[in-house]
Amino acid sequence: MSNKAPVIAVGGATGRVGGRVARLLAEQGVRQRLLVRDASRAPALPGAEVAVVGGYEDDAGMRAALAGTSAFLLIPGHETSDRVSAHRAGVASAVAARTGRIVQLSFAGAAPDATFTYARDHWATEEAVRASGLPWTIARMNFYLDVLPEFVLPSGDLAGPAGDGRVAAVARDDVAAALAALLTGDDHAGATYELTGPEALTLGEACVTMARHSGRPVTYLRETVEEAYASRAAGAPTQIELDGWVSTYTAIAAGELARVTADVERLTGRAPQSLGAWLEAHPLALAHVDTLG
Ligand SMILES: NC(=O)c1ccc[n+]([C@@H]2O[C@H](COP(=O)([O-])OP(=O)(O)OC[C@H]3O[C@@H](n4cnc5c(N)ncnc54)[C@H](OP(=O)(O)O)[C@@H]3O)[C@@H](O)[C@H]2O)c1
Repeated sequence: MSNKAPVIAVGGATGRVGGRVARLLAEQGVRQRLLVRDASRAPALPGAEVAVVGGYEDDAGMRAALAGTSAFLLIPGHETSDRVSAHRAGVASAVAARTGRIVQLSFAGAAPDATFTYARDHWATEEAVRASGLPWTIARMNFYLDVLPEFVLPSGDLAGPAGDGRVAAVARDDVAAALAALLTGDDHAGATYELTGPEALTLGEACVTMARHSGRPVTYLRETVEEAYASRAAGAPTQIELDGWVSTYTAIAAGELARVTADVERLTGRAPQSLGAWLEAHPLALAHVDTLG
């Protein structure tokens, strides 16, 4: 690998999507710099340097980490109240460091008035990216397929106020493959992609698929919005968390996650995984569900 080759900066490299992107880039022999908050948790990959930063909000650390990079993958951070300001700071550091371009992982239906409250954060981050003056590409993810089994309680109930709305959930692996393609490919400047699975399912249909693949009783329980807030109140979550959890479902009910696109296949050359295929590959995903219901 030439040490003159461009270096791609990968944010969120200790996380599940950023870590997968980093592995895919390493497999392709791409030079990269992993932006991490804890060096001991950085994945060990050939061709990867590690840059320790105090988060996207650490301007001096981010400028140093982004210096000389051809692209910066902005994986959104955890859902904290100061997340947008951290993302904005990261974008400002990228501008100051003259990184070549920004690839942002955003969320389907990102808008200032999106039903899913966290999608409003993603919109605010998009606005900063678009205003940065750097070439940018935005990839809006749907909900992860991977989390649908996690929504199922040990009782087998998947409870939420999603009505009969549909969700075009996408596997983390497919999101990562699309991001790796965006980081290594050309001609994506100014483009916004929407990363979805191959189908849009109601939660009732998703439960039927999960029950069939696991042999366990998985049932969709339609909650009202009031019931959803009440059933999630244990453990004293913050209002931000509660609103995020409940609006996960109301956004599905509102039809804001229903669009299926061909963007994953267009970018990766491979059809995205369906829920059934994902469950085949992850046979223990519903092992926490009581077989007696
Ligand atoms: N589509 C969906 O269904 C869905 C579901 C859940 C979350 N998300 C969003 O998608 C993102 C990526 O998903 P994932 O599964 O890869 O999440 P993940 O495994 O939790 O990884 C998040 C990554 O972001 C880093 N991070 C968090 N806050 C940061 C900050 N202020 N500055 C710099 N880095 C920061 C974390 O670093 P540390 O390891 O140091 O904490 C970690 O590397 C999540 O962070 C969240 O915003 C989407």
